[in-house]
Amino acid sequence: MVRQELVARQLDEQIAGRFAVGRRLRVLDVGMGQGTQALRLARAGHQVTGVEREATMIAAAREALAGQPEGIRERMRIVEGDGRDTGVHFLPGSFDVVLCHGVLMYVEEPDPLLAGLARMLAPGGLLSLVVRNGDALALRPGLHGDWAGALAAFDTTNYRNRLGLDVRADRLSTLTAKLAGIGAPLHTWYGVRVFTDTAPDGTTPPDDLDALLAAEERAGRTDPYRAVAALLHLCGVRG
Ligand SMILES: C[S@@+](CC[C@H](N)C(=O)[O-])C[C@H]1O[C@@H](n2cnc3c(N)ncnc32)[C@H](O)[C@@H]1O
Repeated sequence: MVRQELVARQLDEQIAGRFAVGRRLRVLDVGMGQGTQALRLARAGHQVTGVEREATMIAAAREALAGQPEGIRERMRIVEGDGRDTGVHFLPGSFDVVLCHGVLMYVEEPDPLLAGLARMLAPGGLLSLVVRNGDALALRPGLHGDWAGALAAFDTTNYRNRLGLDVRADRLSTLTAKLAGIGAPLHTWYGVRVFTDTAPDGTTPPDDLDALLAAEERAGRTDPYRAVAALLHLCGVRG
């Protein structure tokens, strides 16, 4: 919940700074999961296409969409498929905003996926990536007092996530070079979850949630805090 809210605020800031107020944007959300951001953007008036490969997630997204007013339902399209196949489903340059949040960790060879996402963007379009921060993997085990885990995490970008899956993180410098290489150079980056990464999933929001979000939001845009966030939110712009 904290993650979704922080990413939403950061994304809205980027959209507001890049596109005219009230413009209906064409948004592609690759690996949309149950569609939290996709649905939010459709509610905000944008034309949203969500791509997802897991049938259970597609079902959850469809159910959430079904409960929306007709005008919103008409603005959102759900495509079952692999995010690496965007070129099969859509024409190059046909989106103003492309999201890929929490997906790269599951993709062993991210380069073709990233290149495909950049190709989907119209000139001046925004690419929004949320990735596990590969520069700060020792922090989570370290803050839990798992010293062996912390030491092992310094020299790798592989990690085991909270679901017990062996996945991969991305370093800011590596992704910065990749974004430049695919024609969507890095414009802005944020940290996501600096102070709250050790809270277990599903933790009940505290009474002072607004203050928590304000502190996280501030840290996510402030050095040196943002560099050790659990997640990085990178925003590239298509040249
Ligand atoms: C951690 S969830 C994130 C969901 C959503 N983007 C969010 O930020 O809440 C990752 C999602 O990416 C999907 N995914 C992973 N690899 C994918 C791929 N190659 N193509 C399409 N979806 C993929 C998974 O099925 C899962 O629903």
